[in-house]
Amino acid sequence: MSSTRVVIDLDLPGPTISRHLYGHFAEHLGRCIYGGFFVGEDSDIPNEGGIRLDVVEALRELAIPNLRWPGGCFADDYHWRDGIGPRESRPRMVNSHWGDVVEDNSFGTHEFMQLCEMLGADAYVNGNVGSGTVREMSEWIEYLTRADDSPMAALRRENGRDEPWKVPFFGIGNEAWGCGGNMRAEAYADLARQYATYVRDHGGNTVYRIAAGANADDLEWTETLMKALGCLGCDGQGSSPYQAVSLHYYTMSGSWQSKGSATEFDEDEWYLALSRAFHIEQLLTRHSTVMDRHDPRRRVGLVLDEWGTWWDVEPGTNPGFLYQQNTLRDALVASVHFDAFHRHADRLVMANIAQTVNVLQAMLLTDPETGALVKTPTFHVFAMNVGHHDAQALEAHVVDGETRAVDGRDLPMISASASTKDGAALVSLSNLDADQPRTVVLDLRGRAVEGWSARLLTADSTAAHNVPGQPENVAPVDFDGVRTHARGLEVELPPHSYATVSLRLG
Ligand code: AHR
Repeated sequence: MSSTRVVIDLDLPGPTISRHLYGHFAEHLGRCIYGGFFVGEDSDIPNEGGIRLDVVEALRELAIPNLRWPGGCFADDYHWRDGIGPRESRPRMVNSHWGDVVEDNSFGTHEFMQLCEMLGADAYVNGNVGSGTVREMSEWIEYLTRADDSPMAALRRENGRDEPWKVPFFGIGNEAWGCGGNMRAEAYADLARQYATYVRDHGGNTVYRIAAGANADDLEWTETLMKALGCLGCDGQGSSPYQAVSLHYYTMSGSWQSKGSATEFDEDEWYLALSRAFHIEQLLTRHSTVMDRHDPRRRVGLVLDEWGTWWDVEPGTNPGFLYQQNTLRDALVASVHFDAFHRHADRLVMANIAQTVNVLQAMLLTDPETGALVKTPTFHVFAMNVGHHDAQALEAHVVDGETRAVDGRDLPMISASASTKDGAALVSLSNLDADQPRTVVLDLRGRAVEGWSARLLTADSTAAHNVPGQPENVAPVDFDGVRTHARGLEVELPPHSYATVSLRLG
């Protein structure tokens, strides 16, 4: 069995890994909101104000730091005033992006803020630039966050909420280069400056404004948004109209036309998907480099507010609903992303997986007939990584590691990252080899290790997944494959597996 060394300097903590790198995204798309989070007050499924209690309970295990809503593409079609007041009198609309279905607006601003409160998550509200007005956006933040008797605060009270909410994050449109208005970068950059100006800080609420950023490799888009900030983002004089730019990147093993099946894939597709997941490292480096040129002091944040796998929809489901299964492969796509996020924690301030329930790389899947809920393999990676939230990143150098040539790139067979917090360290290890176990020597330097425990996520097959009736096909277990070694610890990783090793430091 081949052996890989991972060198970790336990006494050299780096930047803080914001818990917001473990953020989520819930769009009015397919069964994410309706049927996923929200079933309505009359449902037989236990709920509070229509919000599913089992979904909230499961997600609380992930300590979700923030939730982005209402889109996505839907955000630039959404008019928030349609989603307040008595539900029976709310206007209806067509959700033209997602399934061309009628949206009844029964889940709106109050329901979303209630959901955030139930989850203990910060709200990340995404405003409408594509088809909304500056006034509309300005009034939404006033409605949400103002305490006095301003017109919007009074309207909120009429609708039953006295206290203002906190809204720490606000998106200035979404994918303005595509569904959010098909704009050129220069045109959007000017609008972003304008719209963001009117997303005001009311009372004690300070908003972090996020401009709609690039698609994957489009460095030009990031360049334009950074240039549009002029010196405001870099010289510390005055404040910039937006505090962050976003980036979207999806992983698939095929093309946009034929993305590949979530569950039926061969070994080549396994490696292709993981190699494409690894591409996030390059993307974060390249977009950060562009940002560094304009903002060497790193005041402007990079927000990856959509990431994850995008497969062909499950056979027989509505193509516009983006419902897909989630296997061990998805779990390892997630773990590889998190390793990269930890390495870029100094510039990357937030990331949001797409999407939390029933859409794309979901944490939870619910059965449309019975309502039964299962946790996906991806859910378990999020749960195993909670210890990285707000910890300080430790460099984890993978040496002597084997790689495999995939699609013109060298894909490492071992991915690793580490962090430290409260006298402990957490090490993440992924064995991407589809069929070979691998030995990893953790070369631990700088501090004594007084004890350890470990968890393992794997299954018999790379395509293993959870379904109602078999909800634990892929679930983490205590892991006894860790032993002492002259350099620190030795870990025997099964093929296609993810492990975390928690260290008690002296
Ligand atoms: O997450 C699904 C869609 O992907 C979002 O609505 C859009 O922003 C992106 O293209």
